[in-house]
Amino acid sequence: MAIMTFKISILALTFHGGKRASVMRSINRTIGVFILVSLSSISLAHEGATGIIKERMDRFKQNKAAIRVIKGNLAKDTTIIAQKLAEIETWANEMVDFFPEGSNQAPSEALPAIWENFGDFTAKAVANATAAADLKTLAQSGADQSALIKGLKVLGKTCKDCHNDYRE
Ligand code: HEC
Repeated sequence: MAIMTFKISILALTFHGGKRASVMRSINRTIGVFILVSLSSISLAHEGATGIIKERMDRFKQNKAAIRVIKGNLAKDTTIIAQKLAEIETWANEMVDFFPEGSNQAPSEALPAIWENFGDFTAKAVANATAAADLKTLAQSGADQSALIKGLKVLGKTCKDCHNDYRE
């Protein structure tokens, strides 16, 4: 943010002189406000997160959004449900690679216990992938809504099981 503000001031200086400068100043102010607004709309939990920590936080946020879409389509569209479950399954199969040892600097909510029990952490990711794959098969087989809700609960539990032990 500081760097951006600095760049904007440089831009203003470049156009110094007369009316043009004042026009540029007001444009720059507008750009500055715009940048501020866009930055503040980014979730607070992600403030300051960079690199692999930010990437995995974003992926987990997508997971949450995917679950919401699945819930909203239970009675409607099994194609969308299957597609979102495939996304969850893919992420579950990749997530352990996004936890290099000791990568829990703020604002990460990852607990150090992850690296003391990496085998168990991995098993919990596998359970998540399996539950997503099972539910995907169920959705594609035209199962009724109550069966899908049951499967969704099983899936949700695999998220929670991991969070209970490994997330702040
Ligand atoms: C194997 C472990 C594991 C599984 C399975 C898992 N999570 Fe997480 N999740 C974590 C960890 C660890 C964090 C904290 C990551 C961080 O802050 O660095 C997290 C963070 C999150 C966050 C917060 C992201 C943010 O914006 O800070 C959400 C939302 C989330 N998970 C949703 C889910 C959902 C939904 C599922 C299941 C579909 C799921 N997770 C499955 C371990 C897991």
